Amino acid sequence: MKQNENKVVVALDVSNKNKAAQLFDELGEDAAALKIGLEMFIRFGPEIVQNAVARGAKIMLDLKLHDIPNTVQKAVANVSLLGAELLTIHTTGGMKMMKAARRGIEEAEKNYGVKGPKLLGVTVLTSISEEAMKNELGVIKSVEEQVVSLALLAKEAGLDGVVASPKEIKSIRNACGDDFLIVTPGIRPAGSSVDDQKRVCTPEQAVADGADYLVIGRPILQADNPVEKLKEINKSIIH
Ligand code: C5P
Repeated sequence: MKQNENKVVVALDVSNKNKAAQLFDELGEDAAALKIGLEMFIRFGPEIVQNAVARGAKIMLDLKLHDIPNTVQKAVANVSLLGAELLTIHTTGGMKMMKAARRGIEEAEKNYGVKGPKLLGVTVLTSISEEAMKNELGVIKSVEEQVVSLALLAKEAGLDGVVASPKEIKSIRNACGDDFLIVTPGIRPAGSSVDDQKRVCTPEQAVADGADYLVIGRPILQADNPVEKLKEINKSIIH
């Protein structure tokens, strides 16, 4: 991980376009990126990303793509035109799908002269329990083993990193080495409300465990002064 670099990705879970635009301007400078998920993307369309990028914000586009390789390749090529810094896809789409996503970026870079996003793989959603993994999906590994094995697959396929829960940061770092990005949600500064997150970790701990970027939403967005809150978190983790 690089020192002296912003590490917080602010999850922009807002349903109002003007509020989003205000946050692009206010938080853009002190955040590693602002995360736009399916909810906002589907409601406001790709223009919301272009608008944020035009205002100077870096965007993590959390679309969690998962389809046949050809479809993902074309979708990723199109997404590459929007200017996001980071894009998520599902690792469970398999090696061929992940490699196709990488080709989609190369295709857009070659044909349109754009700079495509870094690709992050989602491993096992934290909403899936070990029991559901076994009984519904037929996976007999533990969640941790499955996460690490999908992270290794993502690395082999040429992805830039993965999104993982704070619990798995250390084992992914050990297995995948230092040059692989680990992005983690479920972060709560000491003293913050836990909200609906079950297992939380402080920003300091997540960084000590080896995370590169921390996805943080409500503790920043619901603070009296979101910009100050973000700066305060930055101060605790950027050395
Ligand atoms: O408000 P909060 O800090 O909990 O927001 C965290 C963000 O990270 C939300 O956008 C949430 O959907 C996302 N996320 C998560 N846990 C996961 C995966 C994504 O909280 N396992």
